[in-house]
Amino acid sequence: MTLLNDKIAIITGASSGIGRAAAKLFAREGAKLVVNGRRQDALEVVVAEIEAEGGQAIAISGDVRDEALQASLVETAVSRFGGLDIAFNNAGIIGDMAPVAGLALEGWRETIETNLTAAFLGAKHQSAAIGNRGGSLIFTSTFVGHTAGMPGMAAYAASKAGLIGFVQVLAAELGRQNIRVNALLPGGTDTPASITNAPDATPEVLAFVEGLHALKRMAQPEEIANAALFLASDMSSFVTGTAMLADGGVSISRT
Ligand SMILES: NC(=O)c1ccc[n+]([C@@H]2O[C@H](COP(=O)([O-])OP(=O)(O)OC[C@H]3O[C@@H](n4cnc5c(N)ncnc54)[C@H](OP(=O)(O)O)[C@@H]3O)[C@@H](O)[C@H]2O)c1
Repeated sequence: MTLLNDKIAIITGASSGIGRAAAKLFAREGAKLVVNGRRQDALEVVVAEIEAEGGQAIAISGDVRDEALQASLVETAVSRFGGLDIAFNNAGIIGDMAPVAGLALEGWRETIETNLTAAFLGAKHQSAAIGNRGGSLIFTSTFVGHTAGMPGMAAYAASKAGLIGFVQVLAAELGRQNIRVNALLPGGTDTPASITNAPDATPEVLAFVEGLHALKRMAQPEEIANAALFLASDMSSFVTGTAMLADGGVSISRT
């Protein structure tokens, strides 16, 4: 018996990093998937890998800031697989990094719209589709803006902390329908988005970021996917409204 046997799930940000790892894990655990990112070619690679392992996934590329795209992810889950049980709203960007005094409004808006407004649009359509069948909505937040103020990351921190407040209200609204809603807060994770993989990153940057964590390393995307699987599955049947850290102790470490 697998943890997501015959469950139907949407995963955004599935073309890379944490979402890609989650797509492969959720499929292995029996879920049928609608996967999203902006890059269709990268999504098709993920779908091919899932199908090669006997899983089922459909790639729908598009921008999560587009309400029509969010609606189409849900419509595809319903029309192709028969409903919706789980959504891992994981797409996100760090966006422009600058001190607040030097941060352009355009950059602020892009980050807020991608990381926060898109989550609202997703939840709106996903919760309506799940209705009374029960389910799990997961939103990828971060420790930045929750337990750490990191210079230059104001828009990112505000967008991701905003998700935690959003999750609390949504969990309260949807609890009677047995729809659980949680935020997942990874620590530094070795993905293309990490500042440690930026073109100008040095070994010193990597050592610094690793050293911030109690475990003195970064996460692999598969480790964060495991935490998402917990929140998606009945293993977390009494967990809702939380901001769940999977952060290698970056929030508590002062050494
Ligand atoms: N890596 C870390 O250290 C870390 C730590 C804490 C939280 N997080 C969060 O974890 C989530 C996943 O990030 P990651 O580290 O796995 O980064 P990643 O490898 O860059 O993946 C980001 C994903 O989001 C998608 N995406 C970005 N903007 C999008 C948009 N407007 N519409 C649709 N899809 C979009 C990307 O797809 P396309 O490129 O195909 O559009 C990609 O699949 C993000 O929300 C991030 O903020 C990451």
